[in-house]
Amino acid sequence: MGLGCVPLFIFALLVSISSAEISNKIGVNYGQLGNNLPSPPKSVELIKSLKAKRVKIYDADPDILKSLKNTDIQVSIMVPNELIPNISKSQSLSDQWVHANVVPYYPDVKIRYLLVGNEILTNPDTGTWFNLVPAMLKIKASLKTHKIKKVKVGTPSALNVLESSFPPSNGTFRSDIAGPIIKPMLQFLNRTKSFFFIDAYTYFAWADNPQNINLDYALLKAQNITYTDPGTNLTYTNLFDQILDAVVFAMKRLGYPNIRIFVAETGWPSGGDIDQIGANIYNSATYNRNVVKKLTTKPTIGTPARPGWVIPAIIFALYNENQKPGPGTERHFGLLYPNGTEVYEIDLSGETPLSEYKKALPVPTNNEPYKGKVWCMVGEAANMSAVADALSYACSQGNKTCDAIQPGKKCYKPDSLFWHASYAFSSYWAQFKKIGGTCSFNGLATKTPKDPSFGHCKFPSVTL
Ligand SMILES: *[C@@H]1O[C@H](CO)[C@@H](O)[C@H](O)[C@H]1NC(C)=O
Ligand SMILES: *[C@@H]1O[C@H](CO)[C@@H](O)[C@H](O)[C@H]1NC(C)=O
Ligand SMILES: *[C@@H]1O[C@H](CO)[C@@H](O)[C@H](O)[C@H]1NC(C)=O
Ligand SMILES: *[C@@H]1O[C@H](CO)[C@@H](O)[C@H](O)[C@H]1NC(C)=O
Ligand SMILES: *[C@@H]1O[C@H](CO)[C@@H](O)[C@H](O)[C@H]1NC(C)=O
Ligand SMILES: *[C@@H]1O[C@H](CO)[C@@H](O)[C@H](O)[C@H]1NC(C)=O
Ligand SMILES: *[C@@H]1O[C@H](CO)[C@@H](O)[C@H](O)[C@H]1NC(C)=O
Ligand SMILES: *[C@@H]1O[C@H](CO)[C@@H](O)[C@H](O)[C@H]1NC(C)=O
Repeated sequence: MGLGCVPLFIFALLVSISSAEISNKIGVNYGQLGNNLPSPPKSVELIKSLKAKRVKIYDADPDILKSLKNTDIQVSIMVPNELIPNISKSQSLSDQWVHANVVPYYPDVKIRYLLVGNEILTNPDTGTWFNLVPAMLKIKASLKTHKIKKVKVGTPSALNVLESSFPPSNGTFRSDIAGPIIKPMLQFLNRTKSFFFIDAYTYFAWADNPQNINLDYALLKAQNITYTDPGTNLTYTNLFDQILDAVVFAMKRLGYPNIRIFVAETGWPSGGDIDQIGANIYNSATYNRNVVKKLTTKPTIGTPARPGWVIPAIIFALYNENQKPGPGTERHFGLLYPNGTEVYEIDLSGETPLSEYKKALPVPTNNEPYKGKVWCMVGEAANMSAVADALSYACSQGNKTCDAIQPGKKCYKPDSLFWHASYAFSSYWAQFKKIGGTCSFNGLATKTPKDPSFGHCKFPSVTL
């Protein structure tokens, strides 16, 4: 007994010292691409009600920062992508940015992370890639000039900075960026004891390859599925650990085995387009609850390659954002609807045991690929003057795309923009899907399995 106590005590002390510096608290990404979102003060109340201990914003919005004053929430702010080229070339511009966007709020707002750009190395504007690390260095120097020491500088990367992530021990950065960009970035992150910020979604990996990846393994729900990496003999029990360790091994390959990982975004959509597999409330709740539990469990779990390491993480996202472009899932990552109601119960502190989430989740119906006919219609709340432009565009493409909606033809009536554009969208997609055309029209369109045809008017369809 006596012998056992001493090392245990020392161990506990070490753990408390290291976790004082960086804690395994979970946060939420506060994106604002919606025209129906609550005000910043109301949003901060909602963030607290989710028990989020961190928040990440995609700019340095003064109203949001003011609303975060004198709260306990750790804040991550961002230099917008478009400022990176200029900041990379000018220390005084960098100083000005920090002076205008950090100094007025620090330390009353607990700004702890300053991210330079968002997923820059995924951005097709490759010119900016080479400005990224110089901009990070300048921003760090500006913070130093202003004697701000508690703010770590980093940049969030999408997973496609890796050219290989499987098996995890084969994790390798893309060859176009590894030498010229990632290596100097890792040197900077290592020197400043910052983090490699990664946007890590098991959802996208699984949805791209649902035949070969088990859904429960992606949801951190599998009880009896393991994968042993032949390169290391490390055994994995979920896809999230595999992804993080792929990043660990990629950094190690470049000579930086000890840079900490910060999950800048993770999450699972609660809805999406008819042809988007597995986007439902059940999976979203299951994934987010399991990730929170894994990352907040004490003693800290870490990953197979880094047992016991703390992994700070920020869930994407606070709200469903109705103006986010791209497929339907992009607008359904929120923990909250825009009216502030929870999509499902979730406690980001991890203090609620999984068994205490009482409300039954809706049974998922789209965990298998949808098979059947689909039509492309004007979506809810679409901007009708933009729809009119999209209608003209669709009608100018393909063969006889809009013949049926000409005066006197079978689909002319009802003579409304909604019905004419919906016909044109369906007709366009039916012709162009085989060569990569999509049902999107900049987010104005939505896919439906419900046949909109009426009377003699038959809407063209796509068969999935
Ligand atoms: C970058 O600097 C150039 C030259 O001074 C200026 O014209 C441009 O507007 C700046 N870009 C941004 C995004 O501020
Ligand atoms: C390991 O990664 C390389 C690319 O970096 C890839 O060509 C190779 O197929 C990967 N190995 C396995 C077993 O997937
Ligand atoms: C990374 O940082 C550690 C700790 O400061 C240092 O010992 C190590 O040499 C650094 N690694 C490289 C490759 O610079
Ligand atoms: C794993 O567990 C599930 C649910 O308990 C069961 O249906 C499945 O057959 C098991 N799979 C294996 C490989 O044992
Ligand atoms: C993995 O385990 C097998 C069987 O125990 C052993 O032969 C092999 O050398 C191990 N590989 C590594 C990379 O440790
Ligand atoms: C909030 O919005 C959701 C989704 O539109 C809806 O289901 C729910 O009833 C709304 N709640 C309130 C209190 O209005
Ligand atoms: C609606 O679309 C038109 C034309 O594309 C655009 O000029 C206008 O700004 C949009 N209105 C809103 C509220 O987004
Ligand atoms: C339009 O018709 C021409 C001639 O039949 C054909 O080559 C072309 O592929 C058609 N275009 C589409 C989008 O189907």
